[in-house]
Amino acid sequence: MDGEVCIIGGGAAGLMCAMTAARRGRRVRVIEHARQVGRKILMSGGGRCNFTNLYTAPDNFLSANPHFCKSALARYSQWDFIALVEQHGIAYHEKEAGQLFCDESSKEIVRMLLAECAEAGVEIVTGCAVLAVRASGSGFTLQTARGPLDCGRLVLASGGLSIPKMGATGFAYEIAQQFGHALEPTRAALVPFTLSGRPLQDWEGLAGLSHPVRVSAGGMSFDGALLLTHRGLSGPAILQISSYWSPGEDLAIDWLPGQDAASALLAAKRGSPAQSLAGWLAAQMPRRLAQRLAELAGAEEAPLAQRRDAELSALGARLNDWRIRPSGTEGYRTAEVTLGGVSTEAVSSTSMESALQPGLHFVGEALDVTGHLGGFNFQWAWASGHAAGQAL
Ligand code: FDA
Repeated sequence: MDGEVCIIGGGAAGLMCAMTAARRGRRVRVIEHARQVGRKILMSGGGRCNFTNLYTAPDNFLSANPHFCKSALARYSQWDFIALVEQHGIAYHEKEAGQLFCDESSKEIVRMLLAECAEAGVEIVTGCAVLAVRASGSGFTLQTARGPLDCGRLVLASGGLSIPKMGATGFAYEIAQQFGHALEPTRAALVPFTLSGRPLQDWEGLAGLSHPVRVSAGGMSFDGALLLTHRGLSGPAILQISSYWSPGEDLAIDWLPGQDAASALLAAKRGSPAQSLAGWLAAQMPRRLAQRLAELAGAEEAPLAQRRDAELSALGARLNDWRIRPSGTEGYRTAEVTLGGVSTEAVSSTSMESALQPGLHFVGEALDVTGHLGGFNFQWAWASGHAAGQAL
């Protein structure tokens, strides 16, 4: 059908786009290759879906063009999505730093989107992969696992590369390139780091320990928990910094954020000279972590009184700027998002439409817009899906 809109991908962005366009009277069909729509929504936020963030702002997003996300985020804000959630009677709470989660289950968000789609008359086809796309007379012909399908307008909402087990494919990138769009290099983001060799041995036996740190790399810093794992480093602060880290770069970890450790150690030497570095640290972090840091710094046992001031200053400086070089990341297998993607250069920031192929739109994670951890990626999916849905 020439007047029909086809949306490839029944994730967050695809469903939002579908319900928005259908409410405006468009005939909309969503084609999803998994047996179920919204699988990432279901598994998100530990099963409770961190569906948006109260403090969403453009600087929570990475993109080669940091201005691209502004229009869509302004026209469909966190408040719009919260209003929708409230309209459906879904109970939610703020966990921390503006992160909103369902009280009960992510299923409620999927149910809400499906109810909106059903009410607006969206047709959802699951278990049907789109294999190829070509431009035809007045629109597009899709080659699907169930045969050819014509549509007037096409939305690529097929996401990025993270978690292939959940149905992620590079399909949007393939089709974008086919129509002449450039890609920004992709890599796994919001992902744990792996360590190997000496850096892995350094933290052996401490898996499961977590401590609030400030971690810096690539000119950016995040405060939050660092979790030691069997394979390396994880936790919110680590996931956040993974979006800014480049292979071969050190992470700079401040084990005592907000504290000038050098001055604090000199004061401790005067105040309680008999205590060791490990003892002093243990008052501020798990004992086993404190011991390991003191060991690695070569200052485990001796009382502070026996250490020269210069030595304590150097130890303090190291605690505020502890270097760890990851060997890599856990990759797309566990990454929450894909950094990079379809370049925004030839995409309209208001309609998400291609400047190279009229009638073709890109939404959600497929585009080169990546949010920080904390509900920002869903907010981008809602906002970009809504922008395209309004324009179709
Ligand atoms: P998404 O990947 O959701 O959807 C794309 C859909 O297209 C999929 O259903 C896929 O099966 C389908 N598809 C792909 N190729 C196809 C083809 N050829 N034919 C047909 N269908 C095709 N974000 C956040 O803000 N808060 C959170 O709590 C979390 N938590 C979280 C946990 C985990 C484990 C992950 C992996 C990710 C998160 N995220 C998150 C990130 C968030 O899930 C992500 O940014 C959005 O789901 C992106 O939405 P999209 O609709 O763009 O892609």
